Order: sequence, then structure tokens, then C-alpha cells
Amino acid sequence: MFPIRRNRRLRTNEAIRSLVRETSISPNDFLVPLFIVEGKGIKEKIASMPNYYRFSLDKLKAEVKLLWSLGLKSVLLFVKVEDALKDNIGTEALNPNGLMQRAIKTVKDVCPDMLVMTDVALDPFSAYGHDGIIEGGRIINDATVEVLADMSISHAEAGANFVAPSDMMDGRILGIREALDQSNFIDTGIMSYSAKYASAFYGPFRDALDSAPVDMGDVPKDKKTYQMDFANRNEALRETEMDINEGADIVMVKPGLAYLDIVRDIKNNFDVPIAVYQVSGEYAMLKAAAEKGWLDHDAVMLEQITSIKRAGADVIASYFAKDVVKLLF
Ligand code: PBG
Repeated sequence: MFPIRRNRRLRTNEAIRSLVRETSISPNDFLVPLFIVEGKGIKEKIASMPNYYRFSLDKLKAEVKLLWSLGLKSVLLFVKVEDALKDNIGTEALNPNGLMQRAIKTVKDVCPDMLVMTDVALDPFSAYGHDGIIEGGRIINDATVEVLADMSISHAEAGANFVAPSDMMDGRILGIREALDQSNFIDTGIMSYSAKYASAFYGPFRDALDSAPVDMGDVPKDKKTYQMDFANRNEALRETEMDINEGADIVMVKPGLAYLDIVRDIKNNFDVPIAVYQVSGEYAMLKAAAEKGWLDHDAVMLEQITSIKRAGADVIASYFAKDVVKLLF
């Protein structure tokens, strides 16, 4: 009687494979990042992110309607800020008529039910490309948290459903939660980038927003004094636990593919929804390999997205969201 178990029976044909499949992808899984620019009639290519665009507000409308028609019901907004509006303390981030605030209203105008999440961090507004205020050559924590809290209120006032702090300052979730509650935005959620690593995979994103840290002598040109060391695993659990205790509704691991061990650790330890951000560099790698004909774009894309979900992601922020949904549904 050899072998007593024949596992290949469950792989005989697509019908049985799909019957016993453990992980399946749905449009409900996705959060769609959107890049917004000032201007009119703009749908601008991003060199290092083929087939991904920056939209001016008028062009954003059609894109949002298209996403909704595809069953994609959540967006994550990022703005590319004009250089003249950048400073050290993120003044423009608090402008009630700023690009982010207008973008939120634009999405809600054309599609009131679309869930709007907003990036909360100083880097697109920072003359130095850093996520915090700089003083004496250092990124200072507590003053930055105050600005992030004000920024969150401003996004909530404009109509954001969730704010998504991506800065990695200590204590910012509590600071933001308290500020939102004091302003009566008790239903505005927080998706915390809780385990966000100092990663070289963010390169194309920084091209998209023109937000790379600039060389300024005594201030480090990287984000290693606030984003996590990619060699660390236990630290991700500590960061996540603190953010949950401070009031995060959704936690996040970022980047995605190279960090799926972290995703599973968090899944096994905590009972809150987990978002995974498949970042710009991951997108760029597959696009480049596919352009060269070295990888099958669609097959690898589905394998990657499924792997992220299999690892424990409840929410997947991905530049592939539209491609996946068009391919599958
Ligand atoms: C900004 C922010 C970054 C990303 C999301 N929010 C860049 C960074 O931290 O430098 C990266 C997203 C991507 O690479 O797709 N705080």
C-alpha cells in the first residue's frame, strides 16, 4: 500500500485545485495608491513606474470612477507638492485648501462611497525630503507629532475616512487619536504604518513625488533614524503592539514581499486587520523584468499578490490593484 496518501489527487485538474484552494483574491482586498499633482488635464507618466500616473484633480475624477466600476472601493492619496511650497515644518500640509484637502473633496464629490485614506507624513512637504522637522541636524520627534496631528485633523475636515501616518515617529498614533477625538472626529480611522522599514525599495515612489531626502551635510540622507532596520524582526512586534495600544485601527507592514515573515508574525500575534504595502520598487522590478521578456508579468503579479494575502494580509496596498482586478474579474 505505497504511498498511503497521494496528495497529487488534489492537484489533478483546475476544478479540484480551485475547490481546495486556500487563498483567493478579490477586489475587496485592495487599497489603491493614487498620486496627485497640481494643474489641469494632467495624466503624467512616472519613469520608474511604467503604466502608473500622476493625476491632476480633473483627471482624478475619471480614474476614481473607473476604480469604483472595477469594484475597487478604497484609495490611498499622495500629493506631489510644488517646490516653492516646501519648508521645514510642513506649513502647506495644513492648508485647508491645499492639494491633499482638495483631492479628498474631489474623490468624495465624484464617488461619495469611495473610502478615502490619506498619507500623513511631512516628506512631500519637506524641503529636506524628511518625514519630520529638522532641528540641529536631527529629525525631532515630538514637534513633528504635533504637526502630524494637525494634518490629520485637516484631512478629516476635508472628508478623509482614514488617516495613514507613514512617518515612524514615536507616539504619533496616540497624538493623532487624541487630536481627532478632541475635534470630534471619533469615526475617522487610523491605518498606521506600524512596521515600516528603511528600505531601498521606495526609490520609484520618491521619484513619483519628488520627495527623496536631500543632501544637507549634518542631516542623514537616509531615513534610518526613524524607519526600522531591515535586519529586525522582534522590533516589528514591539512597534505594532504599541501602535495598537495607542489606537491604530489597522496596522501595516511595508515593504511587502521581502517582509512576509513579519506579516505572518503579526498575524499570529495580534487580532487587528493587517495591511501590507507592496511598494514602488516591487512594482518597478516586475515591470522591468516583464519589459525585457524575462518574466511573465501577469503570472508573477498574481503569484506575488496571492503570496502577500497567504502570509496574512487583510488589506493590500498595491500599484497592481487595477491590473489584477481587470485580469481576474
Ligand atoms: C512617505 C511614504 C513613502 C512611501 C509611502 N509613504 C516613502 C518613504 O518613506 O520614503 C513609499 C511607498 C512606495 O515606495 O511605494 N512617508
